[in-house]
Amino acid sequence: MADIQTDMRASVTLSVRAGDRTRHDYRFTEPGTCLVGRAPDCGVRIGTDDSRVSRLHCLLDLDPPEVRVRDLGSRNGTYVNGVKVDECSLAHGDEIRIGRTMLRVSVTAPAPSGLTSCRHCGLAVPGTGSGNGETICGACRRTPRAVLIDLLNRVSNGDAGPKAAHGYQVLREIGRGGQGVVYLARHESSGELRAFKVLLSEAAVDPYARNGFLREIENTRALRHPNIVEFRDSGALGAAFFLACEFCEGGSVDQLTVPLPPERAVKIALGVLDGLAYAHDQGLVHRDIKPQNILLSGPVSARVPKLADFGLAKAFENAGLSGHTRTGSLGGSVAFMSRPQVIDYKFAKPEVDVWSAAASLYWLLTGSAPRRFPARTDPVMVVLSETAVPIRERAPSLPRRLAAVVDEALVDSPRIPIGTAAELRRALSDALP
Ligand SMILES: Nc1ncnc2c1ncn2[C@@H]1O[C@H](COP(=O)(O)OP(=O)(O)OP(=O)(O)O)[C@@H](O)[C@H]1O
Ligand SMILES: [Mg+2]
Repeated sequence: MADIQTDMRASVTLSVRAGDRTRHDYRFTEPGTCLVGRAPDCGVRIGTDDSRVSRLHCLLDLDPPEVRVRDLGSRNGTYVNGVKVDECSLAHGDEIRIGRTMLRVSVTAPAPSGLTSCRHCGLAVPGTGSGNGETICGACRRTPRAVLIDLLNRVSNGDAGPKAAHGYQVLREIGRGGQGVVYLARHESSGELRAFKVLLSEAAVDPYARNGFLREIENTRALRHPNIVEFRDSGALGAAFFLACEFCEGGSVDQLTVPLPPERAVKIALGVLDGLAYAHDQGLVHRDIKPQNILLSGPVSARVPKLADFGLAKAFENAGLSGHTRTGSLGGSVAFMSRPQVIDYKFAKPEVDVWSAAASLYWLLTGSAPRRFPARTDPVMVVLSETAVPIRERAPSLPRRLAAVVDEALVDSPRIPIGTAAELRRALSDALP
């Protein structure tokens, strides 16, 4: 059964039709990126004896059945159906030519469902995704509070919906991200204040995707650690997902005035690394560590850092929803992502979290992300071609030992040398005066 459902997923296949790897097929079913070129770390490695292929030639941005190709400033260009392109979407039957190599694109997608109606307002919307999906139209997605209140009313009237969304009183909006809106809500029976996140999918969501998402999120219920935001409830109604978790009254660290004094910044990083070490031991990688996902809990005099959104990146990916609710498959977090995570769409090892934790510490100490992202440059290209700016260039008064640890933790090519949270934690503790 599971296999049949997997086969129904949208896919993009690249078949190498000329050059040195004729007949090799690369099939993608999950959102992400894949580098094409001569370098050993390319997911599609071509033209090893062809000087017209650059080491990092172009990048595929995948969200099957959607796929885009982006030339990475290659010397001899990327051609799609004979036309030189900087960036463009690809369709079934397209041919990409890079030096002597030809890549033919094949796309499979579940049959479109024709017209479907918005779960909230009932207006007709063109169908996307599989036949039995549900959707929320663009206009309603712009007013998520109204959608939420309506859904909560329906749930409490017993009309529809998951028990999980029962008994919440929505108080006010506390934040927005690329994937949804977060509200402060009171859980009526316990009286507890909770953060109630609502994610409204752009695409129709079928029951398979919906259950996959919720199953992955439920995996995070077992995470119990002082530095991880506690999960409370999850549920879905049509194309709307709800996640309720512990409310952290100190907000996220991206809202702090930075730079912070080194002792304070390092204390936050040590808490983050404790949470990561614990989750990694349980086999869970976060994949979206950044200042917005580091929250502060407890009284002002004794704030405790906590990691939010554990399991969310993977839940989106497993449910095939990433590109529909985020801005591109990489989301908005490229500045805090390491090179291995950007170039390999399946790379989800603990060290990517450790690097992102170091990048978040760098931001707390300097007010900048580790790499320079000049205006009008492609952020993905920056991650691929630039290294982190040594931290003392940005914060000259930083203690030398601490600066050396942060700089080392931010090396990410050819690999990330400080690979475990415990290792970085030890190095940071030793570096403090
Ligand atoms: N449990 C919580 N307690 C307090 N504030 C929260 C909580 N969860 C989220 N927030 C606030 O809401 C904001 C939006 O959160 P959300 O997770 O939707 O987006 P994000 O993490 O900023 O970015 P992305 O969309 O990439 O995940 C956060 O930046 C944070 O300030
Ligand atoms: Mg978040």
